[in-house]
Amino acid sequence: MQIPNYHTPQKEIACMTIMPTRVMPDMIDDVRGSLLRTPRSLSPKYFYDERGSELFDQICSTPEYYPTRTENRLLAKYAVDIINKTRPDQILELGSGYSTKTRRLFDACETASQSCVYAPLDVCEEVLIESAQKLSEEYEWLGLKPLLGDYHGGLGNLPASTGSHLFVFLGSTIGNFEQAEALDFIKEVYKAMRYGDHLLIGVDRVKENHVLNAAYNDAQGITAEFNLNVLHVLNRELNANFNIDAFTHSAVFNADKERIEMRLISNTNQKVQIDVLDETIQFDRGDDILTEISQKYTHMGIETMLSEANFSITDHYEDEDAYFSLVLASK
Ligand code: AVJ
Repeated sequence: MQIPNYHTPQKEIACMTIMPTRVMPDMIDDVRGSLLRTPRSLSPKYFYDERGSELFDQICSTPEYYPTRTENRLLAKYAVDIINKTRPDQILELGSGYSTKTRRLFDACETASQSCVYAPLDVCEEVLIESAQKLSEEYEWLGLKPLLGDYHGGLGNLPASTGSHLFVFLGSTIGNFEQAEALDFIKEVYKAMRYGDHLLIGVDRVKENHVLNAAYNDAQGITAEFNLNVLHVLNRELNANFNIDAFTHSAVFNADKERIEMRLISNTNQKVQIDVLDETIQFDRGDDILTEISQKYTHMGIETMLSEANFSITDHYEDEDAYFSLVLASK
């Protein structure tokens, strides 16, 4: 017998797929182009399968990883101010993940009686749907429009919508770009915006080496597991045979370039077969793969970048230690 469901029926949440604006290499060509040449590297976007997204979430609550806590505090403190100044009909988040910190903005919308639609853009469909489901229960008034896509492919195909937009790019994800590419990306965001729209961007600051190094080498080893998880992704997606135990996590602050460089270092001389690429890679002991850069910025560096992209800075919020910046800018 069918048991009647007296609760509110769950609405099916579906993602809208955002097609890239420019030709993007698929994972096969991308990995071929980065892993088979020297220096070897991988795009950090491959960290974020379901497991990787979970691990990143766990990193965010380690005692060493100050960016998330600090940014969350800034948001809690200034979200009402941000919502009052921007009055968004739509909040569009680039790289939304579990949308944990974004909830501070929704809370502020409640305080400021601002109803809006939330359009989270992310590369991981499972995470998008799970998060949207939870958000629809927590914030019944919030419209949800999850977008499945990779912002590296360009922002020209974002769905059109009326009203004012608040674009958000949190967590210092901008740090994953080389500085020149970061500026290009900010210009691309500017292009996707209409006059009067705002951008809220979270950026990690240059600070003492030991604080930075600790943040990427947490004592519980979660960052190490997160870094190594990308090898599981390659094993699964490209039918490779990486022995995860034969690599070691490394994350070091490069003071000249003012960025954390995260690598996987081969523990031994070994060969790795990647079936889908039809290639075998030889790693000698000590050989490495650059898996992520995390660029840190100065107060002025951030403002220069935004100004070069034509943005006007509305507010530049920072914590008392100047560990993290939250910048509200307008087009
Ligand atoms: C999500 C790119 C901002 O660079 O701090 C955290 C990713 N990597 N620990 C960062 C990350 C290792 C994070 N971003």
